Amino acid sequence: MEIKEINNRYSQLAESECCLSCGGAINYAEPQIGEVCVDLGSGRGTDVLRMAESVGKIGFVYGIDISDGMLEKARRNAEKFGVTNVSFVRSELEKLELPDKVADLVISNCTLNHATDKQAVWDEIYRILKNGGRFVISDIYATTAIADEYRNDPAAVAECWAGSVTRPEYMEHLEKAGFASVEILEESAPYAKGNAEVCSFTIAGKKASGKCSCSS
Ligand SMILES: C[S@@+](CC[C@H](N)C(=O)[O-])C[C@H]1O[C@@H](n2cnc3c(N)ncnc32)[C@H](O)[C@@H]1O
Repeated sequence: MEIKEINNRYSQLAESECCLSCGGAINYAEPQIGEVCVDLGSGRGTDVLRMAESVGKIGFVYGIDISDGMLEKARRNAEKFGVTNVSFVRSELEKLELPDKVADLVISNCTLNHATDKQAVWDEIYRILKNGGRFVISDIYATTAIADEYRNDPAAVAECWAGSVTRPEYMEHLEKAGFASVEILEESAPYAKGNAEVCSFTIAGKKASGKCSCSS
């Protein structure tokens, strides 16, 4: 039901010019030549194309999205600009159609708040990151818990606010997934969105390298 609502809403927005971001993840991400990058909720594909240029021909970028209209638009954009080191994959955030340990970098902008099972999304981010890989994510959190009447309203979730969780819940998901620490790169003051008060932030973290630093 919710995926259908998201598909409808975002397929309609695919051809519009309206800004769908809530932070500057791409500006902090610094993709390097040869890296494999993933954008969760890639929308029209703008950030994927920017990363494709940064990683060069020996790198690769996956855009993940669930909306048919967005995927079509993103694929057309890649074709228009002759970008070949990208793939736009139709997939839910909670069950990414990507192999384990494929990514050096995972980014996302204003998308994770839509997911019904946020712990599953963070577990998936951890799964697809290589050891030592990193994430840079812009998203929205609610200053107080969203009431169930809105949380279960697919249209309100698709408007990027009713699916948001509180900051402590957000941090708990990250930690449970296995990310030991998180850096806050930017964070807004509280503002009204729909029937909630929310903040936007951009956060970054790393999956442990897997190398033992013990001397004995
Ligand atoms: C607010 S837009 C952001 C798009 C893009 N990141 C940007 O900044 O312009 C959210 C995007 O996430 C996608 N999306 C929402 N929920 C999703 C889900 N559960 N699985 C996969 N994609 C989802 C939508 O289709 C939409 O393209």
